[in-house]
Amino acid sequence: MTLSIDAVEVVRSGTALLVRAGGKTRLVRWIDLASQLGAPDAKGSRFVAAQVTRGVVEVELAAGGRERVEIADPPMLVVENAGLLMMSDRRGEDPLGMVEDGAAIAVGGRIEWVGQRADLSRTGIDVSRARRVDAGGRLVTPGLVDCHAHPVFAGDRAGEFASRAAGQSYLEIARAGGGIAATVAATRAASFDDLVALTCARLDGALACGTTAMEAKSGYDLTVAGEIRMLEAARAADSLHPIDLEPTLLGAHALPPGRARDEYVREVCELMIPQAAAAGLCRAVDVYCDEGAFTLEETRRVLEAARAHGLLLRAHVGQFADLGAGPLIAELGGISVDHVEQIAPDAMRVLAAHAVVAVMLPGACVQLRLPPPPVAALRAAGVALAVATDLNPGSSLCESLPLQMWLACTHYGMSVEETWLAVTRHAARALGRADLGWLGPGSAADLVMWNAASPAEIPYRYGAGRALVHQVIKSGRPLPRG
Ligand code: NIG
Ligand code: FE
Repeated sequence: MTLSIDAVEVVRSGTALLVRAGGKTRLVRWIDLASQLGAPDAKGSRFVAAQVTRGVVEVELAAGGRERVEIADPPMLVVENAGLLMMSDRRGEDPLGMVEDGAAIAVGGRIEWVGQRADLSRTGIDVSRARRVDAGGRLVTPGLVDCHAHPVFAGDRAGEFASRAAGQSYLEIARAGGGIAATVAATRAASFDDLVALTCARLDGALACGTTAMEAKSGYDLTVAGEIRMLEAARAADSLHPIDLEPTLLGAHALPPGRARDEYVREVCELMIPQAAAAGLCRAVDVYCDEGAFTLEETRRVLEAARAHGLLLRAHVGQFADLGAGPLIAELGGISVDHVEQIAPDAMRVLAAHAVVAVMLPGACVQLRLPPPPVAALRAAGVALAVATDLNPGSSLCESLPLQMWLACTHYGMSVEETWLAVTRHAARALGRADLGWLGPGSAADLVMWNAASPAEIPYRYGAGRALVHQVIKSGRPLPRG
């Protein structure tokens, strides 16, 4: 197999080298930023230029001299002896599509074939030079997709956690100047490299719990330049870390202290969204439409601006009060409504009719002592259910999707099968990534080998944390264990 290279790009500050080949971007070299921080020249550029000649990239180093990087044929991987979950989502059949004694073939970053091990020799694919991984009978699933997360921020709000434990509410704390505003102050004060390193450390925690793709919302700076900087930090972390980060602009997360409502919403619509879209820094735009945040009318303005720039639409909806943003998202062709502790029965039917995913965040719900979303009614209405961590410093400082799965099963009354689909296939839909969350020809070769034999064990053993994950395979490459 030959690889034709279209372009080479040196990522901001020269810490990563990307090659675009066949329309896909591959990371060729990266410098582990976290381990470099503190070294005297760590923040300087490592690569200043790169050029391509027939499968060889020649890199000019900042320190002087050149380095040659050969681009090999895409690697081939065979995973065998696995209890594979394909996440087929077929009604009336096994919703998880389990293949006993299964095998999968990955070429480059994609799955080429999935089936029973006994059929491997009949695929017609030459696997004689493939790397082979014996799953030892373990459960093997698509990498988990965390479709609602705020991993880019500085500072912590442990004091607020203590205040809530002592009886203060989230909205009372926010009205007293804490909440999102506290994280905005800490994030504005942090350097770019520190923001990237903090994000990468959180991604390490998520990867150890089986996450291979995550959303990264902005929303903790609330100025045009600062929100762009947050999205750039997400892009840098994406280049440096095995987890795929999908950036979302959340300029309408809170009204910045001292700003007039109308003027700020206009800034989000007329400056922030156009600039982020023009720079290709985000795929989606999110709005926090709730009591204490943005009104339905303001939400419509922001979402219409986002739609005009061809971005995917999402909204935080009904965490505290249902202001009616569910039908609005559906009307505008949005992909998800998130939180939905409060949502009207009519709105559920509209969501189902427009294939809008309901993303539920049980960790934040429990921590803020809110009532659970109306799961049974959402199910009956035919709404696709997703579950995410809501990783953020205020209501849910948690990187573990297995823990959210446990809460979804025990507190939300979701079945084990619904819960698996909620963190894979349905979560990928809410992220606008149709290639993730399932295993089959054309899907991403992102897999998790679990220290478990059956799907129920993952939420069941909710205290096991990182011990649940045996190994992660990202884009067809087995990552180092532990
Ligand atoms: O999704 N609800 C709004 N935003 C976050 C919390 C942000 C924060 O408290 O820092 C959420 O729960
Ligand atoms: Fe959130």
